[in-house]
Amino acid sequence: MQQLIYIIASVLFIIGLKRLGSAATARQGNFISAVGMALALLATLVDSGFSWGFIIAGIVVGGAIGAVSAKRVAMTGMPEMVALFNGSGGIASVFVGWASAKPGMEIAESIPLYLAVLIGGVTFTGSVVAYLKLSEKIDGKPVMFKGQQPVNIALMALILLFGALFCMSPSGFGDPWLILAILLSFAFGVMVVIPIGGADMPVVIALLNSYSGLAACAAGFIISNTVLIVSGALVGASGIILTGIMCKAMNRSLSNVLFSGFGSATASSGGADVQGEAKPISADDTYYILEAASSVIFVPGYGMAVAQAQHAVKELGALLEENGCEVQFAIHPVAGRMPGHMNVLLAEADVPYEQLVEPDDVNPNMAAADVAIVIGANDVVNPAARTDETSPLWGMPIINVDMAKTCIVLKRSLRPGYAGVENPLFFCENTRMLLGDAKASVQALVSQFKDG
Ligand code: TAP
Repeated sequence: MQQLIYIIASVLFIIGLKRLGSAATARQGNFISAVGMALALLATLVDSGFSWGFIIAGIVVGGAIGAVSAKRVAMTGMPEMVALFNGSGGIASVFVGWASAKPGMEIAESIPLYLAVLIGGVTFTGSVVAYLKLSEKIDGKPVMFKGQQPVNIALMALILLFGALFCMSPSGFGDPWLILAILLSFAFGVMVVIPIGGADMPVVIALLNSYSGLAACAAGFIISNTVLIVSGALVGASGIILTGIMCKAMNRSLSNVLFSGFGSATASSGGADVQGEAKPISADDTYYILEAASSVIFVPGYGMAVAQAQHAVKELGALLEENGCEVQFAIHPVAGRMPGHMNVLLAEADVPYEQLVEPDDVNPNMAAADVAIVIGANDVVNPAARTDETSPLWGMPIINVDMAKTCIVLKRSLRPGYAGVENPLFFCENTRMLLGDAKASVQALVSQFKDG
């Protein structure tokens, strides 16, 4: 019966994950996965032989912390919270592994145990550092020093050596090699995350998420729990897929994210010199262009989040629709600073899901659009990614707003965005710059529409 429920729970996890793939079904996906988890917990707990007092205390304390923090967290604080979740998963795997150590275990048991504590330990401290950097409790700048790589290699070699010594003759819970391996894996977690800049943390968190899954999977082998093996593998695989999607959308390799010290908010610039004269436009004139447009594509970016302009943007979209215009919101996968950042903001403002489109779907129709209106986006619309082989953004998939009949860019200045790269879009013949805070500019346009 228990194994059957585990299979049902695993199927629910898979369906849940699939549904998380689209904004329209994501809530349902989350709910289905939660039901799967509840079933898995119940099926595990009905097994006798537990100390119920501890279990109930654990459920009450853990459940209360989880519920209160999930209720309180701001949408933009989600990556920090996920970092803490990953860290908790990591430390749980360390405890499961450590507590399962018995003298004279088979090598087939001691290896997964060692993997669970190693990966779990790295995930735990790595996630704590990622959390501290993201929440700006410590400096987000990459910490790099001479000899960092040799120190890391030496640490890894020692962890492997102690692991081998433990696996060859495990002496149980107090095995000194196991304890040393755990302590060094904690140190290694810190060492691998400190050289990564605060702004690259979302990628690191996705990677740590994957590690926490692998650690749980290893823990599942130790305690022969099928559903832990399956769910750990699902988390491991989906975390690595998300990491890959983010790296691809940023046009960076994973090793570049992990080892280059990039993402310090003031990244180095590069690429060809960008020169020209940007043509400013007033809110009044922008209104006339929008009023006459029959198709408008909004492209939000990090600046929309900073300005908290999403509600005003939604209102402008609705007014344009009332005016008979076709409205779409083109969402780049790495616009903003966390996965799904723009989706979250637009969902908060109740922008209909049907209006959200991905770059691959919107780019072929860009030339037919009357106006592309860029709300605080910069890197994700930089045409140098297409035209300048020397640009650090070269090859990054972008939203081709420069190909629309008119492109209006809302930002405060001509300064570059996160990647520190100049943007030739601002000087294109068909681009107009509506300078100022994005919320104030959009609100001005909304007032114009309301005043007719
Ligand atoms: P960015 O290229 O960072 O540009 C944002 C722009 O918003 C800035 O140029 C800034 O220009 C403008 N801005 C800031 N505050 C504003 C305000 N109050 N009103 C109007 N404009 C404002 O943003 P993007 O296009 O969304 O690209 C995201 C970047 O972050 C990419 O390089 C991506 O690789 C990187 N990144 C993304 C993620 C994820 S997972 N999304 C994770 C790590 C890194 P002004 O200062 O002139 O106003």
